[in-house]
Formats: sequence, structure tokens, C-alpha cells
Amino acid sequence: RIVYVNGDYVPEEEAKVSIFDRGFLMADAVYEVTSVLDGKLIDFAGHRARLGRSLTELQMDAPVTDDELLEIHRELVKRNGITDGLVYLQVTRGNPGDRDFAFPNPAVKPGLFLFTQSKPGLADAPAAKAGWKIISIPDERWGRRDIKTTQLLYPSLGKMMAKKAGVDDAWLVEDGFVTEGTSNNAYIVKGRRIITRALSHDILHGITRAAVLRMAKEAQLEVEERSFTIEEAKDADEAFVTSASAFVMPVVEIDGATLGSGKPGPIAARLREIYIEESR
Ligand code: PDD
Repeated sequence: RIVYVNGDYVPEEEAKVSIFDRGFLMADAVYEVTSVLDGKLIDFAGHRARLGRSLTELQMDAPVTDDELLEIHRELVKRNGITDGLVYLQVTRGNPGDRDFAFPNPAVKPGLFLFTQSKPGLADAPAAKAGWKIISIPDERWGRRDIKTTQLLYPSLGKMMAKKAGVDDAWLVEDGFVTEGTSNNAYIVKGRRIITRALSHDILHGITRAAVLRMAKEAQLEVEERSFTIEEAKDADEAFVTSASAFVMPVVEIDGATLGSGKPGPIAARLREIYIEESR
């Protein structure tokens, strides 16, 4: 694999980052994951805009211009021959040359690295036909989940709890209400109404979420942005999650309770089709 590190395209074995980089020592870093279908980046403008917002919120400088960022994405997709897959991007506050809690002053050059992941057949993942089973767990992350930082230890532990329980993912619950999935936004469906938590500091403002809600409205579905409980979700007609890597993924079981027929619901399945069609 050819990866990008601080200005250079190099074989992954040759990529080096300092042990003093704040991304490594303090998770002082933000990231984006952009999908690639048929060699084309999906919703790059949305990911670029959210990256800009994450950087601003953390008072971090942008390492390159937006145009350069697009060029690096395209170049990596080309050099690695990616048809279907992902581009992972990370910006760190950089390497001050030592460990200190305070931000370096003056600021040092931000770190920038990107790599691709090839995922042949990404759009027809077998999991989408079966649907995901999920469990609920307490949301024990920090309070600014709208900033896409690399502090992913709790989501990673959540994924392991799900694996241990023999299911696909976990929904996080705070003050009795679902926030989101470990790495996706969460939805329930009642009749022709789609219910998903409103945007705030509590959840990541998903790029796929924005696209899917727009498509749902265009398909004459009702969209209600409000919080819901696990009890309400268990009782819903359908459920699903969205993310750049899972697209629209139906959910068929929550904490052992089967939703509807136990198969992906028609609305989730249809939104998945529309999303993939429009992204190609
Ligand atoms: N995760 N919520 C959380 C906590 C996420 O980590 C993600 C994305 C989303 C969905 O956002 P988007 O639709 O913009 O991908 C929601 C990425 C895919 C990841 O960490 O790999």
C-alpha cells in the first residue's frame, strides 16, 4: 500500500510518525473516513467541511488547503487502484518534540496522514441482507462527540462487548436515551416515520445521516429528529444505522428482542438502495 505522510507518498513500511506526536500521546487528533465506490469518492465535500469544523473546534490549523486535500485523496485512490473501499485521513496537532499537556506555543506544523483500505464489494455486503443484531451499553464517552477525534477507546471497548455478546454492534445509551452506535448514527422506523436523535454535542453529525435524511424526505418519508429509548426501539417496526463505511445497515435485533419479522425492514432496505444508487 502507498500511504501519505506529511507531504510524501511512501510505501506503508516506510511511513514514520514521531513518538512525540500529540496524536499518538494524547489522541490530540481528528479524522475522517470517506468511502469510495467505483473509484469515486462519496460526499467528499461533506467530509471536508466536517474536518474543517473539527479543526476549528480544537483550535488546530489546517495542514493543507481543501483542494490539496481532494488531490491527495484522488492520488491515493489512483495509486492503490481502489475501486471500492475507504480513505482514512488523520490530522494531529503535530510533534512538539516532548510531552506536555499544554498545546505547543507557538503552534507546530500539524501532522497529516492518509491511507486507503480496499473493500471489494463494499456496496453488497452480505451483512446488509441479514441485518445487524445489537446490544445497548452505557455511553461513557466524553461530552464533545460532535468533534471527530481519534479518542476511540470506548467505542472500541463497545465493539468488543458486542462481539462477546455474539452480536454486531452496540448502541450507546445516556440518561435513558440512545445517543448513537459505536461508529454510526442510530434510527428507528414507525410506519413511514424515521426517528433519529437531533444534532447536538452528544453525537457525531454524520455525513451519511445528512444524505439519508434528505433522501428519506425526497421519498415522502417523514423525518422526526428526537431522542428515543431502547424500549421504544425494541417496539419499533424497523431500525437501522448509517455511516460512511456501513452506508445504511438494517438492525434486526436489539438486546435479544427481534424487530418485526427479524429480516431487514422495507424502509431500511429501500434507503440503502437509494443511497448506493445516488452515490455511484
Ligand atoms: N465512523 N457516529 C460515530 C460515533 C461515528 O464514529 C461515525 C463514523 C458516525 C457516522 O458518520 P458518517 O456518516 O459521517 O460516517 C456516527 C467512521 C465511519 C469510523 O469511525 O470508521
